[in-house]
Amino acid sequence: MTGRILLTGGLGYIGSHTYVALVRAGYDVVVIDNLSNAKASVAGRLAQITNRPTDFRKLDILDRAGLEALFHAEKFDAVVHFAGLKAVGESVSQPLRYFDVNVTGLSNVLSAMQANDVGTIVFSSSATVYGGGADLPFQEDAPTSFSNPYAHTKLTGEQILNQISSVNAKFCAGILRYFNPVGAHASGIIGEDPNDIPNNLMPYIAKVASRELPHLQVFGDDYDTPDGTGIRDYIHVDDLARGHVLSLNSLLHTGRGHTVNLGTGRGYSVREVLAAYGRACGWDLPYEIAPRRAGDIAEMRADITRAAALLGFEAEMGLDEMCASSWHWITTGAQHA
Ligand code: WQD
Repeated sequence: MTGRILLTGGLGYIGSHTYVALVRAGYDVVVIDNLSNAKASVAGRLAQITNRPTDFRKLDILDRAGLEALFHAEKFDAVVHFAGLKAVGESVSQPLRYFDVNVTGLSNVLSAMQANDVGTIVFSSSATVYGGGADLPFQEDAPTSFSNPYAHTKLTGEQILNQISSVNAKFCAGILRYFNPVGAHASGIIGEDPNDIPNNLMPYIAKVASRELPHLQVFGDDYDTPDGTGIRDYIHVDDLARGHVLSLNSLLHTGRGHTVNLGTGRGYSVREVLAAYGRACGWDLPYEIAPRRAGDIAEMRADITRAAALLGFEAEMGLDEMCASSWHWITTGAQHA
């Protein structure tokens, strides 16, 4: 496929990996990022991986005039929208900021698209929209809800996109519900680079493995799971990136939107992830059992039927490859560049 794509949040963790996949697929990509949770140096590293200059423009999706000027100057065929805030815990303490960036920011992008006849968007959603009540594995038509402001903004974004699609036949959206993205590009020069102490499991374990943090706190070992610890559907970020390319190809080819889970359909427990990371880094990682984390549920796992049927997507990498790629990223030290 070819086309000129606007990639918002394209220097971030998932955005940067998706940039590489889009370029590899033949797309022409313009990246915007406000650098609130990404380093400008990622643009140069992306150029290293793709062997072509990265067309990066520093721009905030809250800058409505800046967005409209960009869309006016460039003829985009589609948008892949990652720009947003994604920390569940932070969203509880800063709900208005999350609605501002994740909902008003999306609305600004959609307004600029509409004003310039751009009718195709891939939207970064999340498995947190399944709340906690759905049956496992989570199917896309399961009841949705939210238990925190972050999930609320993602569900609202989905509803806005579905509302526009219902009244504008020339508009279509690929709504992708991520489960737990982890790992790093095989080159080791891009990866997850959290600003401060990570909330999520794998980046936290990575810092224990590199001895930046003393040990992992396992949030509860009394769940109704085989080993008592929480189970999640971890998916390699490069598999996730490929899912975005398949979603975009489908939208541009068919003009029809979709809502699709991006996961592996296989869950791994905290203990299994710890053991796998230990195999990757070569030592048994220290941990302590701590109380459950508020809001956590025992298990989340994706039903992957629709991703395969609609997009021809199936994750290819397993837990050991996810951990090995994460550890390779840590050992190359590129994040300190
Ligand atoms: C995974 C498992 C924890 C940290 C979150 C967001 C979700 C998505 C992915 C954006 C759980 C356990 C964790 C730790 C632990 N992000 N854990 N010790 O909560 O499934 O999903 O990130 O879209 O929206 O909710 O991911 O990595 O935080 O937790 O024991 O220090 O690891 O209890 O079982 P989660 P996570």
